[in-house]
Amino acid sequence: MFTKKTVHDIDVKNKTIVLRAMLNVPIKDGKVGDKMRLKAALPTINYLISQGAKIVMISHHSHEGQSLEPVAGALSELVGRPVAFASDCIEEVALAAVKALPSGGLLMLENLRFHPEEEANDEEFARTLASYGDIYVNDDFTTCHRSHASLVGIPKFIPAVAGLEVEEEVNTITSSIDNPKRPLVAIAGGAKISTKVPIISFLLDKVDVLFVGGAMANTFLLAKGLEVGNSLVELDQVETAKQIIKSAEEKGKTLLLPIDVVVTTDVKEALNVRVLLAGDVGIDDIIADLGPMSVLQLNEVIKPEGSVIWNGPIGIAEQKEFANGTEMVAEEIISSGAFSIVGGGDTADYVDGAGLADKFGFVSTGGGASLELMSGNTLPGIAALLDK
Ligand code: 3PG
Repeated sequence: MFTKKTVHDIDVKNKTIVLRAMLNVPIKDGKVGDKMRLKAALPTINYLISQGAKIVMISHHSHEGQSLEPVAGALSELVGRPVAFASDCIEEVALAAVKALPSGGLLMLENLRFHPEEEANDEEFARTLASYGDIYVNDDFTTCHRSHASLVGIPKFIPAVAGLEVEEEVNTITSSIDNPKRPLVAIAGGAKISTKVPIISFLLDKVDVLFVGGAMANTFLLAKGLEVGNSLVELDQVETAKQIIKSAEEKGKTLLLPIDVVVTTDVKEALNVRVLLAGDVGIDDIIADLGPMSVLQLNEVIKPEGSVIWNGPIGIAEQKEFANGTEMVAEEIISSGAFSIVGGGDTADYVDGAGLADKFGFVSTGGGASLELMSGNTLPGIAALLDK
């Protein structure tokens, strides 16, 4: 249950809203690429417009020096109305643009991170941003794990509520973990155990089955005493992997590791690509993907009445020779009929890029934020909002 107030719990009629919006989108050659995040922003924006509110959007872009101006154009096309743009988020230029906003009008201010005060959570900076409106709405789930001025500072000055995307993200992710359809299968991929320990440890208590793939699985194979050749491993995490294997046994959870793998002797050139049993990897081999038998294990454990949480690519998904494992995992999840949640930036980008996003129950827009939430942590950007 989402315990914070949302735009539906506060009177936004004809008010000026400071909207922390999810505008950190891929931009190449001045053009916005994937629009998944902008589409997810529409329900809140359209609701605020329908209430005659004036909307002042503030956001960041992760790439240093990247202007948000191209995002204003892309959003305008999606909303079907003009989105004014101000070349700074503070100073006279921002103030004048806020004053000029008509009712139902949209304004986007320039990248907050052009000012170091944003990431430093500077109080005066937050006060200035808050002064633009009557109500603050946070609809940027992707950044809720950051304690920046636009997330935790502004709520000190004006009433602060969640947008509909934030509500849906938090509700869907937390309820799928706390009150899951069983069996609950978690599929953890990605390269590093070190970044996934919190999520694996937390989920191990909640899930029925944990499936480990991605380069991270190599360290588990090593922990089981298997040869991994020249594969990517984290030697300092072998003990952690052993502990996770032991803890799964003690908790009576099924931990699935690769049975077979795709190896190569040169990832870039994709030389000597073969499928081997996990126990047959040679000293010159590099594990680059999961084999079909490994993925078939999912077929046994994912049930149509159950659910799946998937976080992290399974092989080197960006290289076609080693994308099979990730494709097969996606296919297993989709065809199982189980309720599925996809989280983590790379995994969401993969399913979206493959045109599969609408085949999953829910695709989280968040990378770091969904990882934190799936690890059972409180997100500061959510904690800062008014309770229901
Ligand atoms: C994201 O894309 O994960 C968020 O928008 C946060 O961006 P950041 O990692 O630059 O803080």
